[in-house]
Amino acid sequence: MTYLSNKNIVLCVTGSIAAYKSVYLASLIVKEGANLRVIMTESAKEFVGESSFSGITHNEVITGYYEGKTELSIDHVSIAKEADLIVVAPATANSIAKIALGISSEPIVGTILASKAPVIVAPAMDGDMFNSKQVQSNIKILHDLDMIISGPEKGRLASGINEYGRMTEPDKLLEEINKIFSKKKDFENIRAIVTAGATIESIDPVRFISNWSSGKMGIAIAEALRDRGAKVTFVHGRMDENSINGVKKIPVLSAIEMKDQILKEIDNNDLIIMSAAVADYRVKQKFEQKIKKEKLSSIDLEKNPDILAEIDNKKIVKVGFAAESENLIENAKKKLSSKDCNLIVANDITLEGSGFGSDNNKATLVHKEGCDDLPLMKKSELAHKILDRTIEYID
Ligand SMILES: Cc1cc2nc3c(=O)[nH]c(=O)nc-3n(C[C@H](O)[C@H](O)[C@H](O)COP(=O)(O)O)c2cc1C
Repeated sequence: MTYLSNKNIVLCVTGSIAAYKSVYLASLIVKEGANLRVIMTESAKEFVGESSFSGITHNEVITGYYEGKTELSIDHVSIAKEADLIVVAPATANSIAKIALGISSEPIVGTILASKAPVIVAPAMDGDMFNSKQVQSNIKILHDLDMIISGPEKGRLASGINEYGRMTEPDKLLEEINKIFSKKKDFENIRAIVTAGATIESIDPVRFISNWSSGKMGIAIAEALRDRGAKVTFVHGRMDENSINGVKKIPVLSAIEMKDQILKEIDNNDLIIMSAAVADYRVKQKFEQKIKKEKLSSIDLEKNPDILAEIDNKKIVKVGFAAESENLIENAKKKLSSKDCNLIVANDITLEGSGFGSDNNKATLVHKEGCDDLPLMKKSELAHKILDRTIEYID
């Protein structure tokens, strides 16, 4: 058995000179035991023959919605529904634009739109084309749609220049495909609460106290837990985006609301990861009417509850965050003991390219056995590192 055994994979081939590489990619995927369906655009047929793919896959190749010989002409979304993974390799500038905008004039785009499977896109084109504003903004859309962009790699292009534009080599693409199916399911049967975003403490109907938390780290953790098999309850304050699927979402405003929701849910869970930036203080007396600016010279505050510290169920694994601008490790160690946590994720919010709003984070994992100082990495990658450590505390 391999990771790809009996998986339904769809390989979409578009009209690039790199299409010859996708013949080899098809052969690698089939050798791993997957059931491979190939869809070609009209232009792709100018570069490689259908017979190469049908010979390798032992399946009819799909080249149009209206051709009589494939099941696509009977049910144009059938392949999409069965797909475990869709790979677009090579992906031309034209097809990338169509995928980004959902222009489904080609079966490739129709299939992607109708499928819930992960999508890998491997661009191949001239370097200047790839760097153009149009292609870059379409690539960003694909990123935002959670598609995985593989490459392009730097090297000699058909035009003779040495630039980024080469399709990822088939062996490397196979590795990336394997990675998708080899994800650990080590959190199966585990129920987890993840908090994210910023709480809002109202002053009056117009004004509030909050912070710069974007919610991105919490989303990355909730997604990683979901992908590793956990049932996730996602309690979130205000966030820059709210695009997460496959979790139970509970929106809240204030720290008190967040605490109430967590305490309602906590006993049904094995784990809580508090990445939300909870306001330390709330307004003592919330005003029902807008305060006149002449009277707004000072506001009395009172301390918000320390939510993690209030969870005293010893069976629950607790992971907290310490966003600090000085004495990072010292403060994180204090939090570890005052909140009785298993793990504190400490991050220095003053580091460039890390922390609030960024897609990257540099963190140190502080636990009773010591500290793991991690390099700057994507929040999605850090989420998995946090889980790799957290799983050790779960019975
Ligand atoms: C020899 C040749 C090579 C091409 N290579 C590429 C390429 O690598 N990337 C690309 O985006 N377009 C390339 N094109 C242009 C595409 O084939 C063209 O934009 C086509 O409309 C793409 O259609 P499709 O995306 O539906 O396959 C090439 C065209 C020719 C004639």
